[in-house]
Amino acid sequence: MRSNKDLFDESKKYLCGGVNSPVRAMKPYPFFTERAKGPMLLDVEGNSYIDYCLGYGPMMLGHKNPEIIDAVKHQLEKGTDYGTPTEDEITFAKRLSQIVPNVEKVRCVSTGTEATMSAIRLARGITQRDKIVKFDGGFHGAHDVVLVKAGSGVMTTASPGSIGIPKDSIKNTISVQFNNIEALSSIVEKGNVAGIIIEPIIANAGCILPEKGYLKEVKRTAKQNGTLLIMDEVITGFRVGLGGAQEYFKVNGDIITMGKIIGGGFPLAAFGGKKKIMNEVSPEGHVYNAGTFNGNPVSIAAGLKTLDILERKETYPKLKNMTDKITDGIYDMTSKMKTALYSAPGMFCLYFGVEKVKNYEDAKKSDTEMFKKFHKELLKKGVFLPPSQFECNFLSIDHDEEVIDKTLESMSSALKTIKR
Ligand SMILES: Cc1ncc(COP(=O)(O)O)c(C=O)c1O
Repeated sequence: MRSNKDLFDESKKYLCGGVNSPVRAMKPYPFFTERAKGPMLLDVEGNSYIDYCLGYGPMMLGHKNPEIIDAVKHQLEKGTDYGTPTEDEITFAKRLSQIVPNVEKVRCVSTGTEATMSAIRLARGITQRDKIVKFDGGFHGAHDVVLVKAGSGVMTTASPGSIGIPKDSIKNTISVQFNNIEALSSIVEKGNVAGIIIEPIIANAGCILPEKGYLKEVKRTAKQNGTLLIMDEVITGFRVGLGGAQEYFKVNGDIITMGKIIGGGFPLAAFGGKKKIMNEVSPEGHVYNAGTFNGNPVSIAAGLKTLDILERKETYPKLKNMTDKITDGIYDMTSKMKTALYSAPGMFCLYFGVEKVKNYEDAKKSDTEMFKKFHKELLKKGVFLPPSQFECNFLSIDHDEEVIDKTLESMSSALKTIKR
């Protein structure tokens, strides 16, 4: 048996930083997963962890969901990639149009990054404008245009962006403060903004909720100024409810980006909107989008089965109950500490060292050292939170009462240790 440390030492030789995505890095080294089932991950040393990272969101139906595995096996027998259209793609697109508000037509891609990149191109193509507005701490993937004051892994780097991005590539990206409608309207009212791209809950700086009425104001500002609203539902979609944040907050996007959960653990994402908008996408329209693996049949098979399960009447009530259970428990044990706790169905974040987080600046003030200690203690006790204060914790439909009771016990004991 090889240890996590051995594997990390070897991994560093062949993989950049020993990982394939920076958020997976952990000090002194990450654990290497051997297998996963339901709400649990098992590492190469035989340690098991209750998983609140869930692949950074996708695994809402739990790991190794038997129905998804069966659907995928069935597809594997028929081939893995065709490069031609399939009937299942039509079914999948049709079902998305029935489920997701304001979506009549979609284009399937493989990752959320591709979805937001194409959504931005579409907004620019339709409006014939160049400027894009995003929000501080919002993360929309790792392409140039959106790596400005971005959340997620870049939040822990010295400059919240990346070198290697030409100034010209981001000169049309304006990042504004979340929950501050004046900051947004002062930019959008100039009349030259193609699109506003927004995470309706900023899950890449923890879990920053929109204040009451804020998203409706964002929509109103967009509409009044001929700007398209790109609802980035890569995290919130199919999580806060079947109809995502649009349904949860009762606000309409013009272009909706989806990813993570819709692929049931396989690479699948999409962007969609009303026909009038989506008809501009190639080959029908002139906004180019293409991808070798777009609508890959294995991913689509997993996606179709995912939608079946999500549509069952027990799915979202259970997710909400379990979210309430864990957040009530955390609240009880932290209400006398300087902490801020935020949640929406299926997601939550506990910030240390702050009492209120309504934007990126507030999130940045949180006590990340305290978080690291908490994270480390929890790992020892078999609970895996995403390894950054600025990543959101997720629940799956396999997180039941027993699993949550165990988690709360571990959290209570971890808090006692770190407060000492
Ligand atoms: C809101 C949001 N949009 C887009 C993306 C990019 O998705 P992907 O990592 O699949 O490229 C992410 C990834 O975490 C995300 O959280």
